[in-house]
Amino acid sequence: MNTLVEIGKKYPTSKNVTGFLEIYEIFFKNLRDKEINILEIGVDNGDSLRLWRDYFSKAKICGIDIVKKEFKIKDVEILCGDQSDHNFLTEVVEKFKNFDVIIDDGSHVSKHIIASFNFLFKYLNQNGLYIIEDLQTSYIPRFGGSRFNLDKKNTSMNFLKSLTDSINYEHKDRPFFKKKKFDGMIKSVHFYQNISIVKKGESINYFYKDTKKITFFDKLKKIISLINK
Ligand SMILES: C[S@@+](CC[C@H](N)C(=O)[O-])C[C@H]1O[C@@H](n2cnc3c(N)ncnc32)[C@H](O)[C@@H]1O
Repeated sequence: MNTLVEIGKKYPTSKNVTGFLEIYEIFFKNLRDKEINILEIGVDNGDSLRLWRDYFSKAKICGIDIVKKEFKIKDVEILCGDQSDHNFLTEVVEKFKNFDVIIDDGSHVSKHIIASFNFLFKYLNQNGLYIIEDLQTSYIPRFGGSRFNLDKKNTSMNFLKSLTDSINYEHKDRPFFKKKKFDGMIKSVHFYQNISIVKKGESINYFYKDTKKITFFDKLKKIISLINK
């Protein structure tokens, strides 16, 4: 069976030269023959969609792009709309219900990346993968990034870094603590150069799971957090 890198030679997507295909192979090899739904934001000439179609034997594939495409790709659905438009994304999820893999290779503008993630993550299945490409744009001002202020709010990289705290959210236990949107929903966040892979799943606090004694303070915190909901 051909690898993604081998199949990639047939299709001139930039994924061939960025080193992303080697990374994708690690995460995709166990999904190759599964009945999964894949969404890619950013179609361009359709080469990555053709690549996914050849690699995955049973996947339903959808590509979305802000520019209307005049071509068709066999066994692939292409929809036209803006990745940051939640009304358009609602139409996409109404059609496909849920996804196992979502790839954001769209505008690469931080605010669009975050808007798509905020909407679509709910529709990613447990153990699903949310992948964001070309994160070098997080350091480029015209994409909403900064190379001088690495703490700049709302860059794609800082958004992704904040998800790493959602993995460990149980350690933020303090009175009046309120869960953030993605707390407990992130299994792992992987960073490679210019690409990040977020795996959805419940994070379990193995350290405290069996050993922690419930104290009066814990009970009090629980009551306060319930009142606070
Ligand atoms: C890098 S290309 C996609 C390449 C393709 N995934 C591949 O690997 O062959 C980026 C695409 O994102 C589309 N795009 C730009 N802004 C967008 C937006 N706001 N919503 C959806 N698509 C957008 C562009 O029209 C362009 O076709």
